[in-house]
Amino acid sequence: MSLPILIKNQKVLLIGGGKVALQKAKVLKENKIEFRVVAKEILANISEFCDDIIVKEFEENDLKESIVIDATGNEEITKKLLELKKTKNFLLNVVDKPKFCDFYFMALINRGDLKIGVSSNGASPSVAQFIRDEIKKILPENIEEVLKEKKELRQKGIIDKNLTKLKSKLFLIGAGPGDAELLTIKALKTIKKCDVILYDHLISEEILELVECEKVYVGKEKGKHSKKQEEINEIILDYLKKGKVVGRLKSGDPFIFGRGYEELEAITKEGFNVELIPGISSATAISHLNLPITSRGVSKSFSVHSAHLRGNRVNLDWIEELKKENHTVVVLMGLSRAGHIAKKALEIGIDENYPVAIISNITRKNQKIIKTDIKNLVQHAKKAEKPAILVFGRVVDLKKF
Ligand SMILES: C[S@@+](CC[C@H](N)C(=O)[O-])C[C@H]1O[C@@H](n2cnc3c(N)ncnc32)[C@H](O)[C@@H]1O
Repeated sequence: MSLPILIKNQKVLLIGGGKVALQKAKVLKENKIEFRVVAKEILANISEFCDDIIVKEFEENDLKESIVIDATGNEEITKKLLELKKTKNFLLNVVDKPKFCDFYFMALINRGDLKIGVSSNGASPSVAQFIRDEIKKILPENIEEVLKEKKELRQKGIIDKNLTKLKSKLFLIGAGPGDAELLTIKALKTIKKCDVILYDHLISEEILELVECEKVYVGKEKGKHSKKQEEINEIILDYLKKGKVVGRLKSGDPFIFGRGYEELEAITKEGFNVELIPGISSATAISHLNLPITSRGVSKSFSVHSAHLRGNRVNLDWIEELKKENHTVVVLMGLSRAGHIAKKALEIGIDENYPVAIISNITRKNQKIIKTDIKNLVQHAKKAEKPAILVFGRVVDLKKF
């Protein structure tokens, strides 16, 4: 039988200078344990982890520490140590020889003050490591910060048993362009485990039908402006403080013109866990129409821009890219700025017949593509439905109708 305990401030003697000793030296160093090495030969790079190394054959009078690790693989040394144990007080670990060990190393997780050790009682270190790695996956990312907070309170004599920050979590879920089958498996699984889902007008009905928990609309309301980012953050925080798992559905990919990072930062700053699940962006979903964004000989690169800047300003900084040979430009939030775009393009000398596609509701049942050119862009943009992207480039000519 064995007793798992954390031993504090013990000095360790590591005997051996090969690969096995190197691995033990690494573990000791990572755990900030003071140790010396005695080895006849130093084969591995142990000096990176220890500066107290004596190169000599191990002898009885080298034994000053209360914990000894025999990483030599040398039976003579092991025999000598087992003999010494009869007269001296020390705990011995002979690597890979459980029957000679007084203690075993555990597979460890160190997250600040959180220490998790997994032991197979010497039966199989690889099983212990596997279990350790599985545990790692389920640990809340904010565990260190939460422990730090609790420790500070404890030092002030306050025992805080509230675990809300560990239980609650925000998932920023990339919902893709609309077709529910284009959700990733991870996005779907996450939607199913949320307590509440926040969504806006860009999330399709089809995807909302998959949501079984509470749904909260945080988008534009008729005749009113969209909710400000700060208001949405407040709503998210309210749920998180109640210990809820919150899903924030974002169209396309949350980090592509989706203000996803702002939400991530605001919520992380409050000490809550946030996980981002990438989604298929509307920018690249044009492949759904058999329209390639790159194609050998036609387009060898692409760029994605937003025509809309903070404060409702138009962004045309990208316009010179229309001059690039073999390049595709995808513009989001460009429909109502089509006039500015076409005017500027003609001003800088772009051919009026340069191909453009206006693609509305990509991947949805009401998807529509209008193939046009710079000179007719404005008139078509006026008729097109939102949401839509604009695709500029020779690839548009590859689309067959
Ligand atoms: C705030 S941005 C969000 C972009 C999103 N994060 C993405 O990766 O697709 C909104 C713009 O994305 C584009 N968009 C989003 N979904 C779309 C869809 N299904 N069809 C066409 N355009 C779409 C439109 O240009 C819309 O104005």
